[in-house]
Amino acid sequence: MRVVLFTGKGGVGKTTTAAATAVQAARQGIKTLVMSTDTAHSLGDALGVDLTTAPDDPDPVVTVEPGLSALQVSSAHSVRRSWRSVQDYLLIVLKGLGVDPVVADELTQLPGADEIVALLELREQVGSGLWDLVVVDCAPTAETLRLLALPEALAWHLEKLMPVQRGLLRSLRPAAVAATGLPFPGLHVLDTLRQWQESLHDIQSILTAETTSVRLVLTPERVVIAESRRTLTSLRLYGFAVDQVVVNRVFPQAGRPQSGGPHAGCPEPGSPEADYPGSGRELTHNPWLAGWNEAQQRGLAEVRHSFEPLPIVITPYLSHEPVGTDALAALAAARTGGIHDVLTTTPVHGMTVHPDDGGYLLSLPLPLVTATEVDLKRRGDELLVSVGDHRRVLSLPSVLRRCVVTGAVVRDAMLGVRFVPDEKVWPVV
Ligand SMILES: Nc1ncnc2c1ncn2[C@@H]1O[C@H](COP(=O)(O)OP(=O)(O)OP(=O)(O)O)[C@@H](O)[C@H]1O
Ligand SMILES: [Mg+2]
Repeated sequence: MRVVLFTGKGGVGKTTTAAATAVQAARQGIKTLVMSTDTAHSLGDALGVDLTTAPDDPDPVVTVEPGLSALQVSSAHSVRRSWRSVQDYLLIVLKGLGVDPVVADELTQLPGADEIVALLELREQVGSGLWDLVVVDCAPTAETLRLLALPEALAWHLEKLMPVQRGLLRSLRPAAVAATGLPFPGLHVLDTLRQWQESLHDIQSILTAETTSVRLVLTPERVVIAESRRTLTSLRLYGFAVDQVVVNRVFPQAGRPQSGGPHAGCPEPGSPEADYPGSGRELTHNPWLAGWNEAQQRGLAEVRHSFEPLPIVITPYLSHEPVGTDALAALAAARTGGIHDVLTTTPVHGMTVHPDDGGYLLSLPLPLVTATEVDLKRRGDELLVSVGDHRRVLSLPSVLRRCVVTGAVVRDAMLGVRFVPDEKVWPVV
């Protein structure tokens, strides 16, 4: 079972690329599901199929063609309902603490309910065992990063809310209630929390599995590339594997003979893309296109410089919107560059800890950043790593818990943090 997620800046062609990848895989005989976590329902538009199903439909999967199914994640009602019992409890606690009811209501809203629905649906589909490949069309970058970081962050919060030993808790209840004067969570609240924890754990396992990867879709423009660079850093910070960069909407080359074999953005005559604006002589005399070619070539050089050795796939800018499975299959076939079999996974390394010079070195892949952009903080058994708006709370392996941090470097796309055993001797007085 392979899971491939597509993300990127708004409007760059994520849905189109995800759908094209899914159609191509399905036509190669791979049992494929393409699903969208985006609440804007454009996956159905790209496939040319209506994917709307009734809210709470037990089987929202729609067959698009043999081997290809699609799913549009529906509203977050059910998740909000399940959160309700936890929220009711928290409201009572906050009220007991004298928090203003309006503020309390805001505080207890479940963050990212839409994202959670999408993740729960992904978990269900992966667990169904029906698919060889699940392609996920994600919302634009910011939402996707929130989506991907959510399970770990929420699990962290739930852990603080719910002691692991439920039995112990039960025996402690009367004492705790007496001590704090606050109501203790009812068993149904604890059950809900436990179910949430389990789900989040499953989701986290799916997202960080070796068979799951993220593909970054971008267009060769400076602003888009700059955002994509930051996205790559954030994805790696959260520990996700990125295994491909897709450059979409690459114009055909002005003045290049169309019969010279396949090359970036220039389709073969007779190919489905041969209806480019000026697939013949006009390309030679088109200053507008020549201007774009030049800008895009600079953009492509920057993409290579930023993202190599990641495979870079070039998708041509068609003269029409690729809508419907045939058009999407043709778009997938017209791609060039570092394409590899969609089921192939490349091992990607996460955080490692090695003995080093009398202490330990914790290494975390963190591409495209300089030391000044990274902020580190130690909090008990956790290490907080922040880059820009993104922060990851790393739970330290036990070997590092009794160590102190003595320094950190960013080198060769890695963050290295040095720990040495805390051998301070405390005087006994
Ligand atoms: N290579 C291409 N050639 C021609 N048109 C394209 C190409 N890629 C995408 N499009 C068109 O561009 C528009 C936006 O594409 P798409 O919906 O896939 O982007 P998106 O990144 O998913 O957008 P959003 O951020 O809104 O989800 C669509 O109309 C799509 O048909
Ligand atoms: Mg989209």
